[in-house]
Amino acid sequence: MFLTTEEERMLSGEEGNATRKAMMILVALGKIYGADRLVEVSSVQVSGVSYKNLGDAGLEFLDDLARDGRARVKTTLNPAGMSLTEWKSQGIQPEFAEKQLRVIDAYRKLGVEISCTCTPYIAGNEPEFGQHIAWGESSAVAYANSVIGARTNREGGPSALAASLTGRTPLYGLHLDGNRVPTLTVYVEARLESPEDFSAMGYSVGKKATDGIPLFRGIKEADLEDLKTLSAAMASSGGVAMFHIDGITPEAGVGPHPANRVTFTPKDLKDARLSLDDEGVPDFVSVGCPHCSLPELALLAKLLRGARVRREFWICCSREVKRQSDEAGYSRWILGSGAKIATDTCMVVAPVEELGHRVVATNSAKACHYLRNAGLRVRFMSLEECVAVATESR
Ligand code: F3S
Repeated sequence: MFLTTEEERMLSGEEGNATRKAMMILVALGKIYGADRLVEVSSVQVSGVSYKNLGDAGLEFLDDLARDGRARVKTTLNPAGMSLTEWKSQGIQPEFAEKQLRVIDAYRKLGVEISCTCTPYIAGNEPEFGQHIAWGESSAVAYANSVIGARTNREGGPSALAASLTGRTPLYGLHLDGNRVPTLTVYVEARLESPEDFSAMGYSVGKKATDGIPLFRGIKEADLEDLKTLSAAMASSGGVAMFHIDGITPEAGVGPHPANRVTFTPKDLKDARLSLDDEGVPDFVSVGCPHCSLPELALLAKLLRGARVRREFWICCSREVKRQSDEAGYSRWILGSGAKIATDTCMVVAPVEELGHRVVATNSAKACHYLRNAGLRVRFMSLEECVAVATESR
C-alpha cells in the first residue's frame, strides 16, 4: 500500500507512539481490504464508549493511547453507559461510574469532543456531500452515507480512533464510487405513516439486504426522524451501511436498478411491527434510539405538559439537543412530568438490565433488537403510545 512521506513518518514512530500504533492498525486494515492508499478524513465518530462494552481491556487500550496521542481532525463520541452528570439519579452503581468516567477522561486527553451522542449530524458534526469521514456508529454511518452523501465504512472502535489520531483511513469499500451502487430494489407498497413504520420496515428489509445497498422505490416523503430510525433499524438487523430512496437521497440515481427485487407490502409492515412486540407490562419506557431530535422533544413536551409520569421514562438525546430544548422551553414541560432527559447515554448502552427492569417499551426497532439480546422483553409502539404507557396508572 502506498504511503506518503508524512504517513511513513507516522508509521516509523517519529510522531509518537500512539500515532505509530494507529498507523499500524490502518495499514493492516488497508492490506486486508486491498486499499491502494489512505485518504484524508474530515471527521471521525468514535464508538466503543460504554464501559459496559469496553471493560477493563478497552480502558487500558485507551489509557495507553492517551499518553501521547491527539486527535488530528474533528472527533466526536458515541453515547456512554450513563449520564456523565446525572448517573446517580439513573441508579448507576459507583463502581461502574468510576470506570466510565475514566474512559471519558482518556477520550478527553485524546482531544475527542465529549459529545456522547449517536446523532452527531444534528449535534455539531455534520459532514458535507462527498467528504471522506471515518465513523463508528452503525446508525450514523448509514445516515451519513445515505442521507448526506458523505463516505464512510462501518468503523470499529479502534479503527475510528486510529483515523482520528492520523487524520486518515484506508481507501476501500464505501469510499469508492463503484461500491455505492444499489444491490437490491425494494418496492414499497405499504403506507409509511410514522417513524415507527420506517423503523419496522428497516428492520425487515435489513434482514433481506444483509450487507448490501437497498434502493427503495415508492416512498413519497421522509423527514429526518424517519431517516434516522430507518438507518438504525437496517444497520441492526442487517449490516446495511448505505441505502438509497428514489427522489429523496442524493445518490439515488447512481447505477441501474438492481434486478434483485423484493416488495414490502402492508402485510409485511404489520408482520414486522408484530415481530418486534413481546408480551408483558412495561416497567421501563425509553425513546430516543437514535437520540431524539429537537422536533421530537417538542412533540414530547406537548404530550407531557401537565401529565404525571408513573414509570421510569428515559428520553435519550444529545447534550446539544437538550440545550436547544432548554432554550425553547420544552425541557421544563418534560422534566415537570417526572420524565428524565437522559443525555450522554441510551437504554441500550446503559446497564438497564442491572437496574432491575424486565419489560421495556420503546419506539425503536434497533433498541428492541439489542434489548432482546440482553435478555429483556420489549414492547414496540409509537412515541405517543410510549408516553401513554409511561403516564398510565399502575
Ligand atoms: Fe444510539 Fe443507543 Fe440507539 S447509541 S442508535 S440510542 S442503541
